[in-house]
Parts: sequence; structure tokens; C-alpha cells
Amino acid sequence: MADDTSRWGFETRAIHAGQRPDPRTGSVIVPIYATSTFAQDGVGGLREGGYEYSRTANPTRTALEEALASLEGGRHALAFASGMAASDTALRGMTRPGDHVILGGDAYGGTFRLIDKVLTLWGIEYTTVDLADIHAVRAAIRPNTKVIWCETPTNPLLGVADIAALADASAEAGAKLVIDNTFATPYLQSPLGLGADVVLHSTTKYLGGHSDVVGGALITSDDELNESFAFLRNSVGSVPGPFDAYLTLRGAKTLALRMERHCDNAERVVEALVGHPKITKVYYPGLADHPGHELAGKQMRRYGGMVSFAVAGGEEAALAVAARTKLFILGESLGGVESLIEHPGRMTHASTTGSPLQVPSDVLRLSVGIEDGADLVQDLLQALD
Ligand SMILES: Cc1ncc(COP(=O)(O)O)c(C=O)c1O
Repeated sequence: MADDTSRWGFETRAIHAGQRPDPRTGSVIVPIYATSTFAQDGVGGLREGGYEYSRTANPTRTALEEALASLEGGRHALAFASGMAASDTALRGMTRPGDHVILGGDAYGGTFRLIDKVLTLWGIEYTTVDLADIHAVRAAIRPNTKVIWCETPTNPLLGVADIAALADASAEAGAKLVIDNTFATPYLQSPLGLGADVVLHSTTKYLGGHSDVVGGALITSDDELNESFAFLRNSVGSVPGPFDAYLTLRGAKTLALRMERHCDNAERVVEALVGHPKITKVYYPGLADHPGHELAGKQMRRYGGMVSFAVAGGEEAALAVAARTKLFILGESLGGVESLIEHPGRMTHASTTGSPLQVPSDVLRLSVGIEDGADLVQDLLQALD
């Protein structure tokens, strides 16, 4: 039985929720249960935990799920083989052919591709809308709208949407609100507490935190939704292996410390970029002139480690800057301890080309890591100059 972890602070939950020492051996760290199946004492005689087959459940994965549920303040969590596997299960668990989904006008390219190129073939309709504009969201709701899918802050333009207002609008419409909390993490933002029905994570990013594992998660306090997600996951088998679950759990223990440092370094980087003659715009919710600044201050603890900026001179100039950084590694993904730089239009968001989600070609995205902040600033300045 899981501990009641709700009385513990965030950092304590990250280290102990679902991770009490193994009662049999005293192992302080949750073992990697590298097994596909579990012995039964007579047919149906399952031992402690009720494990029978690792596609359905595995103790290392259970520990990760209990920790993630506790960190997001939800009753249930399910871990997946990737963030996209979690997205697929969430969308297919909540819709049927003929249903309608609302998606933000700025969102991860893979999520857009899943909806636009895969789920539409199964009869799902969708509309993209600026989720920061609650009137536009209400106007986009149709009788068959079943899901509002929201990233906040958004990938890659760092837009901010009002989670509580979206939760009201979606509840009135009889739809479910999903918040992709990958950028903010549960340390900076708690969507379930603001009325969201489901939180989605690419645990590949900040939760894992070390760029060494791919994974995803769905967290909810809705028993029925969780049951339908678990049924679908077990039916299709989109589960992480025990070693992946262990790596993610190990990473998540230090999430709070890492996020503080990611935020510190992002703020230093933003300070250096704003007003730089080679930069035409900096996208960061921590900036006082960001349209979502006040809202982010209310619904987030800090403003996060992701920063985007537009380079004077357009795409060619942006690509040249991305090629000149030495510490910022040119690569997709985000949320690891090391700093990364990428060109969303050509890389993570290439699948949005020609769609309303297309990213301006002069934009570069930074995942600001936890290195020495002065070194990071210096690296960007030399690449710009
Ligand atoms: C905001 C966001 N959501 C979901 C995903 C998909 O996660 P994964 O790559 O783990 O499948 C990503 C990946 O970049 C992402 O940035």
C-alpha cells in the first residue's frame, strides 16, 4: 500500500514517494525488477502487489508511478514508453470517431503530427486556437468537443495559457482538459490543482533530467479516465521497461534542485540576450513585457529553463548562430542537465511546416542547463558576435 505522501514537501515526495526501502532486503533504492512474468501460487494466486506480467504492471514502474502521482498531486499515474505513447493513449482514451479536439496554436510538432496525420485517419476532427485567448477557445468549442489539449508554457514560443479558465470552459462543454506539463514540470506548476483533468509528461525531459532515457506519463485523479488509459496501455503494450523506469525515478529525485538552477541560468541568459543587437525578440515568460507574465507569476513557481529568441537576419543567421555555440549542444530534446540549442522550424517542429503551427524561421530554442551560468552566457555571446 502506498504511503500517504500528501503531508510531505515536494522534495521529500520526490525522494520517498513510492520509494520506501524494500521490506524484504532493506534495499534503499527501488530494485530494477528485470522480469517479464511473476510466479503464481496456484492459478490466480498472485503474491504481494498482485503482479502477473510486466506489460500490465512491474514493481519498478509502480514505484515511478506512485512518485509521479504524488509529485503532481494526482490519485493515479501511468508511465509510458515515451511522451508520444502517453499522448496517443490519452487522445484515444478520451475520443471516438467523430469527436473533436482543440489544440493550441503553438505546440510540440510531434503532438500536432499525431493528431493531424494519424488520428484524423480514425475520424478525429481538430481545431487549432490560441489557448491564451479564452474567448477564442470558447468560440472554438463544438458540441462534439471532447478534449482541450494545452501546453503551458508552449513549445517553442513560451506562450502562457490560463489553466483555471480553460478548466472552467472545458467542464462547461463536457470536455476534458489535458495539460502537457513537460516544460513547467510539477515543481513549477500543478495543473490538477487548477482544475485540469489530466497531466501529460514527456519524462524524457526534466523529470528524467539527464538525457539518458525516453519516457512519458499520464497523471489524473479521475478513476474512470485512469482505468481507460490503463486498459488501452495494457492492450497496446506502450510501457517503459524496468531499467527506463529506474532511470526516470532516479532523475526525478533531484528535480527541485535542478529546476531552481535551470531557472537561475535561464534568467541570466535572458538578461544577456535582451537588447542584444543581433536579437530581435526574446521569448520568456519571466520578462515583464511577455503577454503571459502576470499569469505565469500566479500559476507557476518560477518561469522555467526554456528560452527562445529570434535572430536578426532571418533563418540563415539563426542557423549560423546554432552552428557556432560550443557549450550549447546542437540537438533536439530539452530538460537535461546539459544546455541544448536547436532550430525548431527545421528540427523539432519540422512537421508543422505549412500548418498554422509553423514556427518562424528566425527562431532558435534554448534548453538552458545547469552548468555555470557565466559560461553559458559567454558561449551565446561568442556565437552571436
Ligand atoms: C512539450 C512536449 N510534449 C511531448 C513531447 C513528446 O515526448 P517524447 O519525445 O518523450 O515522446 C515532447 C518532446 O519533445 C515535448 O517537447
